[in-house]
Amino acid sequence: MDKLVIEGGHRLSGSIKISGAKNSALPLLASGLMCSGTFKLRNVPLLADTASMIALIEYLGVQTKRIDDGVSIIGEASILDAPYEQVRKMRASILVLGPLLARYGSVKVSLPGGCAIGTRPVDLHIWAMQQLGAIVELADGYIKARCRNGLIGNKIVFPFISVGATENAMMAASLAKGRTRIINAAREPEIIDLGNCLNSMGAKISGHGTDNIIIDGVETLSSAEHCVIADRIEAGTFAIAAAITQGDLTLSNMNPVYLNALFAVLEQTGSAVEIGENWARVSCSSRAKPVDIATQPYPGFPTDLQAQYMSLMATADGSSKISETIFENRFMHVPELMRMSGDIQIDGRSCIVHGKAHLKPAPVMATDLRASVCLVLAALATKGKTTISRIYHLDRGYTNLEEKLNKCGAKIQRLEE
Ligand code: UD1
Repeated sequence: MDKLVIEGGHRLSGSIKISGAKNSALPLLASGLMCSGTFKLRNVPLLADTASMIALIEYLGVQTKRIDDGVSIIGEASILDAPYEQVRKMRASILVLGPLLARYGSVKVSLPGGCAIGTRPVDLHIWAMQQLGAIVELADGYIKARCRNGLIGNKIVFPFISVGATENAMMAASLAKGRTRIINAAREPEIIDLGNCLNSMGAKISGHGTDNIIIDGVETLSSAEHCVIADRIEAGTFAIAAAITQGDLTLSNMNPVYLNALFAVLEQTGSAVEIGENWARVSCSSRAKPVDIATQPYPGFPTDLQAQYMSLMATADGSSKISETIFENRFMHVPELMRMSGDIQIDGRSCIVHGKAHLKPAPVMATDLRASVCLVLAALATKGKTTISRIYHLDRGYTNLEEKLNKCGAKIQRLEE
């Protein structure tokens, strides 16, 4: 297992090209299972999670081939079963549920470990399939779903917003008979990307990007080529890296509009944000001012940037409150930041962060993807050498992280543990 040794205290400056979005690539790859021709997906980030999804598609008997900066998917599935080993490794494997059910009329997908009563259930995914007429059975840790005569369009009113359940519902409804309306749909840019991609295969989707999506089912989806949008979370992470190191980073190949919520907050903390059509520049010359945030579904402040923002607030000039409204238990990074002498109190679903002028280097451990990168940001701002172990989480979501940061003046070494 690898670890990172980061010699912090260096100001970052330069430019970074943003990679394709992991959270877009995963549903887009799954949508390839619905395509009756050849599906070419470009700008696919080279990550452990995208490799897992590609491996699952191949396991199902569908051919995939690496092309330039992407992958092509062709053929029919011969296995309609996503096994535990795969789903346990990557929760987003649940995204094959809608595509396989809609195209083949039957599917078996493992429940992610402990998910039925755990903190990240998939009940809304299952419920959405039932609204489209699927018969669903939960047995032996598996979701078994079938629809002998195909799915039937319906009104799906989500009780709360779920990105993944909206995606599964959109994909399934694309091949259902008649019209589906998804009310209280997620509005994330990744949903827009998925709708655009399905439409390029011949689906009839409108309203994606609003909370009311209309889908008129079609009989088949045909060959298409699509380019994954840029990763707004990767871009947001580097924007915070500029702020926390009092540096100056230009992020290219990205859509700055998708980071409006973060940029508004960074400006309040004292950073300067300049944006162009497909780039953003974030610079900062003083310690951040404390600013409270609460995570919200898009277009609010993204939960996937909460941990990184906490690192910035841990070094801010005063105290701030960070509230997590999307996930329970998404403060696993707090004890690790406290090991670096961060002064943070957890109070239910909020944290009070008392900023310190200087954190101290310490051996810390990465616990999940965003928690890991928050430790990288904290270490970049901390004089001395911080060691971060169990960094395999980082490789699930960040393409060439050390390379990109080192090019801008960071001193990060990857070592074998
Ligand atoms: C996606 C993103 C993840 C991001 C999250 C919220 C991908 C691959 N992952 O995850 O990075 O943090 O959106 O922006 O795109 N829930 C249920 N039942 C369900 C589904 C979800 O109770 O069936 C709950 C979840 O536990 C959570 C909330 O709904 O509390 C929102 O989760 P959701 O939007 O579904 O997140 P994901 O799609 O899993």
